[in-house]
Amino acid sequence: MKGKVEAIIGTQWGDEGKGRVVDAVASRVDVVARYQGGANAGHTVMAEGETYIFHLLPSGMLYPGKTCVIGNGVVIDPQQLIDELEELQDKGKDRARLVISESAHVVMPYHKVLDGMEERFRGTGRRIGTTRRGIGPCYMDKVSRRGIRMEDLLEPDVLREKLTFNLEYNNLLLTRIYEESPLSFGEIYDEALAWGERLAPYIGDGSLVIHKALEAGDTVLLEGAQGTLLDIDHGTYPFVTSSNAVGGGGCTGAGIGPVRISRMTGVTKAYCTRVGSGPFPTEAEEEVATRLRDRGGEYGATTGRPRRCGWLDLVALKHAVRVNGLTGIALTKLDVLSGEKDLPVCVAYSHEGRRDEDFRGGYSYLENVKPVFQKLAGWQEDISGCDTWESLPEEARKYITFIEEQTGVPVVFIGVGAKREQMIRRGL
Ligand code: IMP
Repeated sequence: MKGKVEAIIGTQWGDEGKGRVVDAVASRVDVVARYQGGANAGHTVMAEGETYIFHLLPSGMLYPGKTCVIGNGVVIDPQQLIDELEELQDKGKDRARLVISESAHVVMPYHKVLDGMEERFRGTGRRIGTTRRGIGPCYMDKVSRRGIRMEDLLEPDVLREKLTFNLEYNNLLLTRIYEESPLSFGEIYDEALAWGERLAPYIGDGSLVIHKALEAGDTVLLEGAQGTLLDIDHGTYPFVTSSNAVGGGGCTGAGIGPVRISRMTGVTKAYCTRVGSGPFPTEAEEEVATRLRDRGGEYGATTGRPRRCGWLDLVALKHAVRVNGLTGIALTKLDVLSGEKDLPVCVAYSHEGRRDEDFRGGYSYLENVKPVFQKLAGWQEDISGCDTWESLPEEARKYITFIEEQTGVPVVFIGVGAKREQMIRRGL
């Protein structure tokens, strides 16, 4: 097969700036595919003076002539998808061909209600801080083999049968466990049929479309959502999302054989943020966190929640290098660190008197580690206009070189601002 697959994935807790890195390479690829997650993601892309936030559409949608695939591993809130499509159509920017996998699962209205109920049931301390987009309950139905897939929206009789069964089960949860009112079949059924009608032109076999593109010698880009530390297997369980955000998830979530992937780029913010609950070893005290949050505009693209902020964690980053097989790091938001006197970088965890350099995601372990910081010198200059490696202050170059030495992976892209052109390419 002549074509190549590359992946761009998050190495932290999401919000690393994947959208803009995907946008930076989208012009040289032919197909952009999302493979997991759903409308919990919020990918911000700035183009032609406008800001777009995509929750479900792949970031390649702004490019004429591309094919964008929403893979089978994604869970789709059809109304959200229709709204995003219509916004682009209204602005005359729906320039790509969209293919929605027929086997992607549908987030139903009751999944969103149940997401909130489940959080309430967990209570303080156990609450995950989900985006309440129905992601967990939808994946639960998928794995329990009672879910509704995009293809079902196209067949009224199949939909009737599947929705009856699925709603019966979920209404039992709502009424008997959570003591809420049941949802009515008729309204949801009519709404779901309308979604199917509207989206029918796009629904197809995503894996086959990708396969044919590869046969024709095209390049396929897998666009990850969330990040490695939110991965259901490799993240900080149970404070994670319900899908495989790691690069390997791209194989199952888009229907591609593993050996096809030749490049795996891990997007890493120059510091760390997290939304939602769960351990965060390098979380900064409030004064520093507020500074980073204000400078970096660290508020959730999906929920608007202020993000927790802290320093770069190389123990976690090395874990991301390992479980994704990273071939390159795209370092984003380096400009946000300008003006800091010192830059503490976490090089190990201290746990019960031991120094650990290997990451473990388990909650009880991570809650009890203390970061071991190495302080690097900061820089005072505004770097948002830097467009070459040489034009960066020496301290900024040392910061990047330190990351490369510690991880053994080259930094192939440096983001110095939110605009499309504010970046330095080093091989991406
Ligand atoms: P869920 O994916 O909505 O179930 O949320 C599970 C956890 O993942 C929560 O901590 C969310 O804040 C987090 N999360 C989900 N999607 C994103 C994202 O795109 N960026 C950052 N955090 C996310």
